[in-house]
Amino acid sequence: MVGARQPKVIEGAVETLEEVGKRAPKLFGIPTGVEGLDEMFFTTKIEDGKVKKIPLGGIPYLAVVNITGVSDTGKSLMVEQFAVTQASRGYKVCFVTVESPAAFVSMGLKERAKAMGIRWDEIEDNIIMVDAATHAILREDISSLLNTLEYAIDTYETKSVVIDSVTGLYEAKEMMARSVVRRLFNFMKLKHQTALFVSQKRSGHEELTAEAAGGYAVSHIVDCSIVLSKELIMSRYAANIYRRPIGSIVRLIRIDGCRMCGHDTKTHIFEITETGLVRVGPSLDELLKEAQKQSTLKFGGGGESW
Ligand SMILES: Nc1ncnc2c1ncn2[C@@H]1O[C@H](COP(=O)(O)OP(=O)(O)OP(=O)(O)O)[C@@H](O)[C@H]1O
Ligand SMILES: [Mg+2]
Repeated sequence: MVGARQPKVIEGAVETLEEVGKRAPKLFGIPTGVEGLDEMFFTTKIEDGKVKKIPLGGIPYLAVVNITGVSDTGKSLMVEQFAVTQASRGYKVCFVTVESPAAFVSMGLKERAKAMGIRWDEIEDNIIMVDAATHAILREDISSLLNTLEYAIDTYETKSVVIDSVTGLYEAKEMMARSVVRRLFNFMKLKHQTALFVSQKRSGHEELTAEAAGGYAVSHIVDCSIVLSKELIMSRYAANIYRRPIGSIVRLIRIDGCRMCGHDTKTHIFEITETGLVRVGPSLDELLKEAQKQSTLKFGGGGESW
């Protein structure tokens, strides 16, 4: 038969857990530079017979993390903060820009560095830009993108990769989303990179749910999904809890599953500061408790922070 494949035995796919375990990566945190986020990941240890949580201090090393949300939720700001933070610690980061040409992203990175008090000349050689916004072939042909990425990773010895956004790699062919993300995921594992993939969510996808996590079942492939959303305050009750005036916007963040370590499962409020930095605040139940404590106070005091 033409094209029929003889079934094979793939002996290399079969190993004892002991053998596999020798290659297991160490679990530790890679700081994101996003205040409040790094503490949302943890590991556990047994102390005096009790399970104790130990904060990881970042996203798990070698994880592929999907950051998703509708437009204007702060995804790009978050990954820029990550790139600047890693670069300032002396680690090379490969930044694949799919939507904005590299020169525009460099402006954003410069702003982020300034706001974080990090000197540009300390980091500019540590961020390696791959401009898939300008070079259409990198968006249209995943094999060319992977070859280019391999070249960048090997030449500069990068430790992490940011892709903003993977959605731009399967535009108008959304049924390809899973296979594109699967190839990128496998590639990050092969090249030992910690990775942040931004994915855009349509407003039609439910907020803060697994469906929200990039849609198209992208969340099933990656190690971890972080979902960002925006909510319009339209009731006195919500205004009271969030301590924001009616008609203002609150931003919410949730870790929607992480295979590699323990994590906070609560929904937290977050803000974008005046200088364009993302900062994660308390969980909604903490806010509710605080609101109940202060129920005698007037609310709607003009958008003050938590
Ligand atoms: N320097 C800044 N100061 C204040 N606010 C800022 C600053 N920079 C960005 N913002 C606000 O943060 C918002 C979120 O920006 P960001 O580009 O991260 O969104 P995004 O989730 O990546 O959206 P998209 O899916 O459209 O790319 C901006 O639309 C803007 O309102
Ligand atoms: Mg963006």
